[in-house]
Amino acid sequence: MQTSLIDIRSQFDKDLSTTKTAAEVEALKIKFLGKKGLIQDLMKGLKEVDPAERPARGKEINDLKETITRQIDELFLSQSSSELKERLAREDIDTSLPGRRRFLGKKHLISQVVDEMLQILGKMGFSVQVGPDIDSEFYNFEALNMGPDHPARDMQDTFYIADQVLLRTHTSNVQVRVMESQRPPIRVVSPGKAFRNEDISARSHVFFHQLEAFYVDKNVTFGDLLATLEQFFKQLFHPDVQIRVRPSYFPFVEPGMEVDINCISCKGAGCSLCKQTGWLEVAGAGMVHPEVLRFGGVDPEEYTGFAWGMGIDRMVMLKYGITDIRMFTENDIRFLEQFA
Ligand code: DAH
Repeated sequence: MQTSLIDIRSQFDKDLSTTKTAAEVEALKIKFLGKKGLIQDLMKGLKEVDPAERPARGKEINDLKETITRQIDELFLSQSSSELKERLAREDIDTSLPGRRRFLGKKHLISQVVDEMLQILGKMGFSVQVGPDIDSEFYNFEALNMGPDHPARDMQDTFYIADQVLLRTHTSNVQVRVMESQRPPIRVVSPGKAFRNEDISARSHVFFHQLEAFYVDKNVTFGDLLATLEQFFKQLFHPDVQIRVRPSYFPFVEPGMEVDINCISCKGAGCSLCKQTGWLEVAGAGMVHPEVLRFGGVDPEEYTGFAWGMGIDRMVMLKYGITDIRMFTENDIRFLEQFA
Protein backbone atom coordinates (compact mmCIF):
# COMPACT_ATOMS: atom_id res chain seq x y z
CA MET A 1 0.00 0.00 0.00
CA GLN A 2 1.28 3.38 -0.89
CA THR A 3 1.71 6.02 1.75
CA SER A 4 -0.03 9.24 0.79
CA LEU A 5 1.75 12.50 0.06
CA ILE A 6 0.16 14.14 3.10
CA ASP A 7 1.40 11.36 5.36
CA ILE A 8 4.95 11.68 4.06
CA ARG A 9 4.89 15.44 4.44
CA SER A 10 3.82 15.21 8.10
CA GLN A 11 6.25 12.34 8.73
CA PHE A 12 9.03 14.54 7.38
CA ASP A 13 8.05 17.54 9.54
CA LYS A 14 8.05 15.34 12.59
CA ASP A 15 11.44 13.79 11.83
CA LEU A 16 12.93 17.17 10.96
CA SER A 17 12.03 18.62 14.34
CA THR A 18 14.06 15.95 16.15
CA THR A 19 17.09 15.91 13.79
CA LYS A 20 20.23 17.41 15.36
CA THR A 21 23.57 15.81 14.56
CA ALA A 22 25.24 15.52 11.16
CA ALA A 23 24.67 11.77 11.19
CA GLU A 24 20.96 12.34 11.81
CA VAL A 25 20.73 14.74 8.89
CA GLU A 26 22.35 12.13 6.67
CA ALA A 27 19.89 9.45 7.87
CA LEU A 28 16.96 11.79 7.23
CA LYS A 29 18.20 12.43 3.73
CA ILE A 30 18.48 8.70 2.99
CA LYS A 31 15.06 7.96 4.47
CA PHE A 32 13.25 10.49 2.29
CA LEU A 33 15.46 11.15 -0.74
CA GLY A 34 17.52 7.94 -1.04
CA LYS A 35 17.20 5.44 -3.90
CA LYS A 36 14.93 3.30 -1.75
CA GLY A 37 13.48 6.29 0.08
CA LEU A 38 9.89 7.36 0.54
CA ILE A 39 9.84 9.85 -2.34
CA GLN A 40 11.12 7.15 -4.68
CA ASP A 41 8.29 4.87 -3.47
CA LEU A 42 5.81 7.55 -4.44
CA MET A 43 7.37 7.77 -7.91
CA LYS A 44 7.11 4.03 -8.40
CA GLY A 45 3.45 4.21 -7.38
CA LEU A 46 2.74 6.55 -10.29
CA LYS A 47 2.28 3.56 -12.62
CA GLU A 48 -0.90 2.64 -10.86
CA VAL A 49 -2.40 6.10 -11.08
CA ASP A 50 -5.04 6.81 -13.70
CA PRO A 51 -3.11 8.13 -16.77
CA ALA A 52 -5.24 11.26 -16.82
CA GLU A 53 -4.20 12.19 -13.30
CA ARG A 54 -0.58 11.14 -13.65
CA PRO A 55 0.91 14.51 -14.69
CA ALA A 56 -0.74 16.39 -11.82
CA ARG A 57 0.25 13.69 -9.31
CA GLY A 58 3.80 13.64 -10.67
CA LYS A 59 4.08 17.37 -10.20
CA GLU A 60 2.88 17.12 -6.60
CA ILE A 61 5.51 14.51 -5.84
CA ASN A 62 8.22 16.64 -7.44
CA ASP A 63 7.16 19.69 -5.45
CA LEU A 64 7.34 17.68 -2.25
CA LYS A 65 10.76 16.37 -3.21
CA GLU A 66 12.01 19.90 -3.82
CA THR A 67 10.66 21.15 -0.52
CA ILE A 68 12.24 18.28 1.41
CA THR A 69 15.57 18.74 -0.39
CA ARG A 70 15.61 22.44 0.40
CA GLN A 71 14.75 21.96 4.04
CA ILE A 72 17.43 19.30 4.50
CA ASP A 73 20.01 21.58 2.84
CA GLU A 74 19.05 24.47 5.11
CA LEU A 75 19.32 22.28 8.15
CA PHE A 76 22.71 21.05 7.01
CA LEU A 77 24.00 24.61 6.52
CA SER A 78 22.73 25.96 9.81
CA GLN A 79 24.12 22.93 11.53
CA SER A 80 27.61 23.29 10.08
CA SER A 81 27.73 26.98 10.88
CA SER A 82 26.71 26.35 14.47
CA GLU A 83 29.33 23.61 14.68
CA LEU A 84 31.90 26.08 13.36
CA LYS A 85 30.87 28.70 15.91
CA GLU A 86 31.15 26.15 18.68
CA ARG A 87 34.58 25.09 17.47
CA LEU A 88 35.81 28.68 17.25
CA ALA A 89 34.64 29.31 20.80
CA ARG A 90 36.26 26.09 22.00
CA GLU A 91 39.62 26.62 20.24
CA ASP A 92 39.91 30.22 21.23
CA ILE A 93 41.70 31.42 18.09
CA ASP A 94 43.40 34.80 18.36
CA THR A 95 42.72 36.26 14.92
CA SER A 96 44.95 39.26 15.63
CA LEU A 97 48.10 37.10 15.68
CA PRO A 98 50.38 37.61 12.65
CA GLY A 99 50.30 34.80 10.09
CA ARG A 100 53.07 32.27 9.77
CA ARG A 101 55.79 33.32 7.35
CA ARG A 102 56.48 30.98 4.51
CA PHE A 103 60.14 30.59 3.62
CA LEU A 104 60.93 30.34 -0.05
CA GLY A 105 64.18 28.68 -1.10
CA LYS A 106 66.72 31.01 -2.69
CA LYS A 107 69.88 30.48 -4.62
CA HIS A 108 72.98 30.44 -2.43
CA LEU A 109 74.98 33.65 -2.69
CA ILE A 110 77.89 31.79 -4.31
CA SER A 111 75.56 30.45 -7.01
CA GLN A 112 74.12 33.91 -7.57
CA VAL A 113 77.57 35.38 -8.20
CA VAL A 114 78.59 32.43 -10.36
CA ASP A 115 75.50 33.07 -12.49
CA GLU A 116 76.55 36.69 -12.82
CA MET A 117 80.11 35.73 -13.83
CA LEU A 118 78.82 33.25 -16.40
CA GLN A 119 76.51 35.86 -17.82
CA ILE A 120 79.36 38.36 -18.26
CA LEU A 121 81.59 35.76 -19.91
CA GLY A 122 78.68 34.34 -21.90
CA LYS A 123 78.29 37.71 -23.61
CA MET A 124 81.98 37.53 -24.53
CA GLY A 125 81.41 34.17 -26.21
CA PHE A 126 82.52 31.76 -23.48
CA SER A 127 80.38 28.66 -23.07
CA VAL A 128 80.07 26.72 -19.83
CA GLN A 129 81.67 23.34 -19.41
CA VAL A 130 82.11 21.71 -16.01
CA GLY A 131 84.78 19.22 -15.05
CA PRO A 132 84.63 16.43 -12.46
CA ASP A 133 85.28 17.04 -8.74
CA ILE A 134 86.98 13.67 -8.49
CA ASP A 135 89.71 13.36 -11.07
CA SER A 136 92.94 11.63 -11.97
CA GLU A 137 96.42 12.89 -11.24
CA PHE A 138 96.80 13.15 -14.98
CA TYR A 139 94.23 15.89 -15.60
CA ASN A 140 94.80 17.69 -12.31
CA PHE A 141 98.62 17.72 -12.49
CA GLU A 142 100.43 15.82 -15.22
CA ALA A 143 98.65 17.31 -18.22
CA LEU A 144 99.13 20.76 -16.69
CA ASN A 145 102.87 20.40 -16.85
CA MET A 146 103.22 19.37 -13.20
CA GLY A 147 105.31 16.22 -13.32
CA PRO A 148 105.61 13.66 -10.50
CA ASP A 149 108.21 15.71 -8.61
CA HIS A 150 106.36 18.98 -8.73
CA PRO A 151 105.94 20.48 -5.24
CA ALA A 152 102.25 21.31 -5.89
CA ARG A 153 101.62 17.57 -5.92
CA ASP A 154 102.54 17.31 -2.28
CA MET A 155 100.35 14.66 -0.61
CA GLN A 156 99.84 17.02 2.30
CA ASP A 157 97.85 19.50 0.27
CA THR A 158 95.89 17.10 -1.88
CA PHE A 159 93.09 14.79 -0.82
CA TYR A 160 93.83 11.47 -2.46
CA ILE A 161 90.95 9.02 -2.77
CA ALA A 162 92.89 6.13 -4.27
CA ASP A 163 96.13 5.63 -6.10
CA GLN A 164 96.29 8.45 -8.70
CA VAL A 165 92.72 9.51 -7.93
CA LEU A 166 92.09 12.74 -6.07
CA LEU A 167 89.69 15.57 -5.26
CA ARG A 168 90.70 18.20 -7.78
CA THR A 169 92.84 20.94 -6.28
CA HIS A 170 91.74 23.47 -8.92
CA THR A 171 89.29 23.89 -11.81
CA SER A 172 92.23 24.00 -14.24
CA ASN A 173 91.65 20.23 -14.55
CA VAL A 174 89.09 21.01 -17.29
CA GLN A 175 91.67 22.47 -19.67
CA VAL A 176 93.06 19.31 -21.25
CA ARG A 177 89.71 17.50 -21.10
CA VAL A 178 88.13 20.31 -23.12
CA MET A 179 90.93 20.29 -25.69
CA GLU A 180 90.56 16.53 -26.03
CA SER A 181 86.87 16.83 -26.79
CA GLN A 182 86.80 19.84 -29.12
CA ARG A 183 88.92 21.60 -31.66
CA PRO A 184 89.88 25.31 -31.50
CA PRO A 185 88.48 27.89 -31.44
CA ILE A 186 87.75 26.97 -27.83
CA ARG A 187 86.21 29.52 -25.49
CA VAL A 188 85.20 27.82 -22.28
CA VAL A 189 84.39 28.90 -18.74
CA SER A 190 84.25 26.34 -15.99
CA PRO A 191 83.02 27.04 -12.47
CA GLY A 192 83.16 24.43 -9.74
CA LYS A 193 84.45 23.18 -6.42
CA ALA A 194 88.09 22.69 -5.52
CA PHE A 195 89.58 20.95 -2.50
CA ARG A 196 92.80 21.41 -0.56
CA ASN A 197 93.94 20.05 2.75
CA GLU A 198 94.39 23.39 4.49
CA ASP A 199 93.61 24.61 7.98
CA ILE A 200 90.10 26.02 8.13
CA SER A 201 90.06 29.68 9.13
CA ALA A 202 88.24 32.90 8.28
CA ARG A 203 90.32 33.16 5.11
CA SER A 204 90.76 29.57 3.94
CA HIS A 205 88.77 26.39 3.74
CA VAL A 206 89.31 22.80 2.63
CA PHE A 207 86.62 23.21 0.03
CA PHE A 208 86.02 26.34 -2.00
CA HIS A 209 84.94 27.46 -5.45
CA GLN A 210 86.92 28.45 -8.48
CA LEU A 211 86.26 29.64 -11.97
CA GLU A 212 88.50 28.83 -14.88
CA ALA A 213 88.34 30.71 -18.18
CA PHE A 214 90.13 29.32 -21.16
CA TYR A 215 90.56 30.51 -24.75
CA VAL A 216 92.49 28.74 -27.51
CA ASP A 217 92.59 29.85 -31.13
CA LYS A 218 94.93 31.11 -33.81
CA ASN A 219 96.62 34.39 -32.83
CA VAL A 220 95.35 34.67 -29.27
CA THR A 221 97.57 37.27 -27.63
CA PHE A 222 98.58 38.50 -24.22
CA GLY A 223 96.71 41.71 -25.10
CA ASP A 224 93.51 39.68 -25.57
CA LEU A 225 94.00 38.24 -22.10
CA LEU A 226 94.47 41.66 -20.49
CA ALA A 227 91.48 43.15 -22.29
CA THR A 228 89.24 40.21 -21.34
CA LEU A 229 90.31 40.35 -17.70
CA GLU A 230 89.75 44.08 -17.52
CA GLN A 231 86.30 43.86 -19.07
CA PHE A 232 85.36 41.01 -16.80
CA PHE A 233 86.33 42.75 -13.56
CA LYS A 234 84.83 46.06 -14.63
CA GLN A 235 81.50 44.36 -15.20
CA LEU A 236 81.70 42.28 -12.06
CA PHE A 237 82.66 45.08 -9.69
CA HIS A 238 82.60 48.58 -11.08
CA PRO A 239 83.16 50.34 -14.45
CA ASP A 240 86.12 52.25 -12.96
CA VAL A 241 88.01 49.16 -11.85
CA GLN A 242 91.61 49.04 -13.02
CA ILE A 243 93.73 45.95 -13.30
CA ARG A 244 97.44 45.42 -12.76
CA VAL A 245 99.48 42.30 -13.47
CA ARG A 246 102.60 40.98 -11.78
CA PRO A 247 104.80 38.21 -13.18
CA SER A 248 104.30 34.93 -11.37
CA TYR A 249 104.90 31.25 -11.91
CA PHE A 250 102.27 28.62 -12.69
CA PRO A 251 103.58 25.52 -14.48
CA PHE A 252 100.73 25.46 -17.00
CA VAL A 253 101.15 29.00 -18.35
CA GLU A 254 104.06 30.90 -19.83
CA PRO A 255 104.29 33.75 -19.10
CA GLY A 256 102.28 33.46 -15.92
CA MET A 257 101.04 36.30 -13.79
CA GLU A 258 99.05 37.37 -10.81
CA VAL A 259 96.18 39.78 -11.46
CA ASP A 260 95.24 42.60 -9.08
CA ILE A 261 92.41 45.11 -9.19
CA ASN A 262 92.50 48.44 -7.43
CA CYS A 263 90.81 48.11 -4.05
CA ILE A 264 87.04 48.28 -4.43
CA SER A 265 86.68 49.54 -0.89
CA CYS A 266 89.15 52.48 -0.78
CA LYS A 267 89.54 52.84 -4.59
CA GLY A 268 93.30 52.52 -4.18
CA ALA A 269 93.90 54.96 -1.33
CA GLY A 270 94.81 52.18 1.12
CA CYS A 271 92.61 50.53 3.73
CA SER A 272 92.44 47.41 5.87
CA LEU A 273 90.84 45.32 3.12
CA CYS A 274 93.82 45.86 0.80
CA LYS A 275 96.29 45.99 3.69
CA GLN A 276 97.13 49.59 2.75
CA THR A 277 98.46 48.57 -0.67
CA GLY A 278 95.52 49.90 -2.69
CA TRP A 279 95.39 46.60 -4.64
CA LEU A 280 93.55 43.30 -4.26
CA GLU A 281 94.81 40.06 -5.72
CA VAL A 282 92.01 38.43 -7.70
CA ALA A 283 93.31 35.84 -10.16
CA GLY A 284 96.14 33.81 -11.62
CA ALA A 285 96.52 33.97 -15.39
CA GLY A 286 98.78 33.49 -18.34
CA MET A 287 99.33 32.19 -21.86
CA VAL A 288 98.68 28.45 -22.07
CA HIS A 289 102.00 26.56 -21.95
CA PRO A 290 102.90 24.82 -25.25
CA GLU A 291 103.32 21.57 -23.33
CA VAL A 292 99.71 21.80 -22.08
CA LEU A 293 98.42 22.47 -25.61
CA ARG A 294 100.33 19.38 -26.75
CA PHE A 295 98.75 17.28 -23.99
CA GLY A 296 95.38 18.40 -25.35
CA GLY A 297 96.32 17.44 -28.91
CA VAL A 298 96.55 21.06 -30.05
CA ASP A 299 99.57 22.10 -32.13
CA PRO A 300 101.38 24.97 -30.31
CA GLU A 301 102.97 26.04 -33.60
CA GLU A 302 99.53 26.80 -34.96
CA TYR A 303 97.55 27.85 -31.92
CA THR A 304 97.98 29.93 -28.80
CA GLY A 305 95.70 30.42 -25.83
CA PHE A 306 95.16 32.16 -22.54
CA ALA A 307 93.77 30.90 -19.25
CA TRP A 308 92.90 32.41 -15.95
CA GLY A 309 91.63 30.99 -12.71
CA MET A 310 90.25 32.60 -9.61
CA GLY A 311 88.73 31.84 -6.25
CA ILE A 312 85.02 32.59 -6.36
CA ASP A 313 84.54 32.69 -2.58
CA ARG A 314 87.08 35.47 -2.33
CA MET A 315 85.37 37.45 -5.10
CA VAL A 316 82.04 37.14 -3.31
CA MET A 317 83.63 38.18 -0.02
CA LEU A 318 85.07 41.29 -1.66
CA LYS A 319 81.86 42.13 -3.47
CA TYR A 320 79.66 41.83 -0.39
CA GLY A 321 82.09 42.73 2.39
CA ILE A 322 81.96 39.27 3.97
CA THR A 323 84.87 38.69 6.31
CA ASP A 324 84.67 34.96 7.04
CA ILE A 325 84.73 32.29 4.31
CA ARG A 326 83.16 29.76 6.70
CA MET A 327 79.84 31.62 6.45
CA PHE A 328 79.33 30.10 3.00
CA THR A 329 79.19 26.55 4.27
CA GLU A 330 77.62 26.98 7.70
CA ASN A 331 74.15 27.36 6.18
CA ASP A 332 73.00 29.78 8.86
CA ILE A 333 69.64 31.00 7.58
CA ARG A 334 70.24 34.46 9.12
CA PHE A 335 73.26 34.84 6.84
CA LEU A 336 71.75 33.25 3.74
CA GLU A 337 68.51 35.19 3.77
CA GLN A 338 70.35 38.51 3.61
CA PHE A 339 71.19 37.70 -0.01
CA ALA A 340 67.79 36.89 -1.42
N1 DAH B 1 94.83 26.85 -10.93
C1 DAH B 1 95.48 27.94 -10.23
C2 DAH B 1 95.21 27.81 -8.73
O1 DAH B 1 94.36 27.10 -8.34
C3 DAH B 1 94.96 29.28 -10.67
C4 DAH B 1 95.39 29.62 -12.06
C5 DAH B 1 96.56 30.32 -12.27
C6 DAH B 1 94.62 29.24 -13.14
C7 DAH B 1 96.96 30.65 -13.52
C8 DAH B 1 95.00 29.59 -14.43
C9 DAH B 1 96.18 30.31 -14.61
O2 DAH B 1 94.28 29.28 -15.49
O3 DAH B 1 96.57 30.64 -15.85
O4 DAH B 1 95.88 28.46 -7.98
